[in-house]
Amino acid sequence: MAEVKATNIVWHAHTVTRGERAEKFGHRGCTVWLTGLSGSGKSTLANALDDALWQRGVRSYVLDGDNVRHGLNKDLGFSPEDRAENIRRIGEVAKLFTDAGLVNVTAFISPYREDRDRARSIQGEGDFIEVYVRASLEACEARDTKGLYAKARAGQIREFTGISAPYEEPEKPELIVETEGRTVAESLGDILAYLESAGYLG
Ligand code: ADX
Repeated sequence: MAEVKATNIVWHAHTVTRGERAEKFGHRGCTVWLTGLSGSGKSTLANALDDALWQRGVRSYVLDGDNVRHGLNKDLGFSPEDRAENIRRIGEVAKLFTDAGLVNVTAFISPYREDRDRARSIQGEGDFIEVYVRASLEACEARDTKGLYAKARAGQIREFTGISAPYEEPEKPELIVETEGRTVAESLGDILAYLESAGYLG
């Protein structure tokens, strides 16, 4: 976990408050944290959700595992320690986006419960919505959109989630979305219905 190195730093309160942002935007900021196996449909769903929210005038944004690993987290691999740091940084970014009033949708495998719980714990009550994007390993492997499961089975990728590294299922997610044998529209409908009924869309 990150070591605290800086001293003599002071927290500054923002002049524009979160409440003022929510009033102007017509909705509050929150983090919709998608977790699930590679190939379960997180990125597809995140982008479909972003698009649907955007069409309604909701300020939204997607943070995606593969993309963030091209920049902010390009120094990290897939060991448990590196995944923890990956999720720690994303959790902090997600918290800032929530504070900025955005509905931010994150799409990271985030296989360790402890890492997800830490990302939740730094946000306020109700600001973090954990969504388990669920599909069986067999279904994800059959899809194998990036050809990574085949490589992992062939021993060409080490520590691959579901094959040679663990995935710890959420115990009490706000929502479980089944993606196996369902269309993107159906799975998306589940998330939109939840956000609407819980009052996140203003
Ligand atoms: S996480 O475990 O740290 O949350 P993250 O979501 O950022 O993972 O990145 C996962 C993506 O990296 C996968 O969708 C896949 O494309 C790629 N990847 C490369 N190597 C691995 C690996 N060993 N395990 C899982 N995903 C991997």
